[in-house]
Amino acid sequence: MLDLANPRQVILVSTRGSVELMGKRVTKDNIFTLSWHSPLSFDPELYGISVGKGRFSYRLIKESKVFAVNFVPHELREQALYCGRASGMSVDKFKEAKLTKEECDSIDCCRIKESSAYLECEVIDEFEVGDHVFFVGKVLKNVVKDDKKRLFYIGGNHFTSTI
Ligand SMILES: Cc1cc2nc3c(=O)[nH]c(=O)nc-3n(C[C@H](O)[C@H](O)[C@H](O)COP(=O)(O)O)c2cc1C
Repeated sequence: MLDLANPRQVILVSTRGSVELMGKRVTKDNIFTLSWHSPLSFDPELYGISVGKGRFSYRLIKESKVFAVNFVPHELREQALYCGRASGMSVDKFKEAKLTKEECDSIDCCRIKESSAYLECEVIDEFEVGDHVFFVGKVLKNVVKDDKKRLFYIGGNHFTSTI
């Protein structure tokens, strides 16, 4: 039913957080795929993402209160599918998806070098929306690197792009 809202642009959200795994506290960098996201305000510049409560990324964002939005080109569709199916709890998605990790400049987080544009965000608010939590991020840095055709999700394993 909610597929009626597709196609939607797909972003890869990168996160870093410290979590308890098998009795040990570890800092993890992760990536997950997201199509439920939106610009919210010009001034201050705000960007929102809707994150399922069961996601490993949800735990990381809850803890660190930061995330990076990576707008990606259509050629990264395989990586987007992988990052949207595997969990960072058990795999290193940067390694498995062959994406290059970069340090963010304004937040303690990682971002994806292969992105076409990115936003570095600090969480300033969050709302429970059913089985998801909507995080409101204040954009501390925004960079556009190229104008490659972006990636849009249709449903199932299918993606498209703009003309
Ligand atoms: C195209 C696509 C779009 C997705 N959109 C969202 C989304 O908007 N919100 C969300 O919480 N999960 C979304 N997912 C699912 C997560 O990316 C998926 O559960 C992922 O494995 C979570 O990884 P993690 O456990 O490492 O955080 C999407 C998956 C795909 C393939």
